Amino acid sequence: GWKMEDILDEEIKVIKGTVGTDDHVICALSGGVDSTVAATLVHKAIGDRLHCVFVDNGLLRYKERERVMETFERDLHLPVTCVDARDQFLSKLKGVVDPEMKRKIIGKEFIAIFDAFAQDLGNKLGKKPAYLVQGTLYPDVIESCPPPGTGRNHSHTIKSHHNVGGLPKDMKLKLIEPLKLLFKDEVRKLGKILNVPEPFLKRHPFPGPGLAVRVLGDVTEGNALDILRQVDEIFIQSIKDAGLYDSIWQAFAVFLPVKSVGVQGDQRTHSHVVALRAVTSQDGMTADWYNFEHKFLDDVARKICNSVRGVNRVVQDITSKPPSTIEWE
Ligand code: XMP
Repeated sequence: GWKMEDILDEEIKVIKGTVGTDDHVICALSGGVDSTVAATLVHKAIGDRLHCVFVDNGLLRYKERERVMETFERDLHLPVTCVDARDQFLSKLKGVVDPEMKRKIIGKEFIAIFDAFAQDLGNKLGKKPAYLVQGTLYPDVIESCPPPGTGRNHSHTIKSHHNVGGLPKDMKLKLIEPLKLLFKDEVRKLGKILNVPEPFLKRHPFPGPGLAVRVLGDVTEGNALDILRQVDEIFIQSIKDAGLYDSIWQAFAVFLPVKSVGVQGDQRTHSHVVALRAVTSQDGMTADWYNFEHKFLDDVARKICNSVRGVNRVVQDITSKPPSTIEWE
């Protein structure tokens, strides 16, 4: 067996050899484990000739931007430019209800922002960046076709909006994929050696299109995104407090464009319904719904209705994958 320390040393040598002494490298950070570990590794090899970008697309979870930027800067000392593109994304998504349309629009905006970042950087440096870091894992390499089913895209195909294939031809970026021989658990081990904080390495997966696929229908309608963020935060925090976070593959809330009648504080209300979803899984390809204890669910539902304005009903998703997908859109 290989020791992770040896793999790390070898990777650093390879990256240094590939990039040489004066080329520059760019990387899009999603806030997830893979891109963070990949960037940290490359940063260790070539220092500040690595330039990262993190995009706030307005579809992030509660305090996500602050939380990941703090880890990037304070814990990992990564050079990251944070682009506030909330208006750019949300204005394009206004009125869009088709899930695939949402994904396409979001993918296109990401590319536009990434392209602008690379061009700006090229102008500033007087030299175009030559390489692009991607957090591609071994399973992404071997799974070359999406599983049969609903005809929707799956993660490795969908991630193509971060791929060079989707970028303008004249950028001619060469790929650096330092994790492409590793599995997720090995990436976590590598991240640990690189001092990526443990809780960060254990984060649940989060889809590229973000909360856009968790607000069903038009994401810009009313304060749907804001409500969803609050509900999701209560759910996730409760899961952490109960010590269940690491036993669950993914947990999140879904905003339904549906209102139901309730009674809150002697008042009849007509408010939103939210759904809670938690699943166990090995790889996201199949999944089982997670069976919380009655008391846990009871506490969470009460907390949500008591503290989130505009919600008077909480339901739980009790379908596995298949027949459902993990996300609702
Ligand atoms: P589904 O919903 O297809 O999700 O069962 C399987 C896994 O993939 C994630 N997912 C995505 N990840 N872009 C991504 O980067 C996407 O468009 C996307 N859609 C789903 C999902 O969160 C789950 O972990």
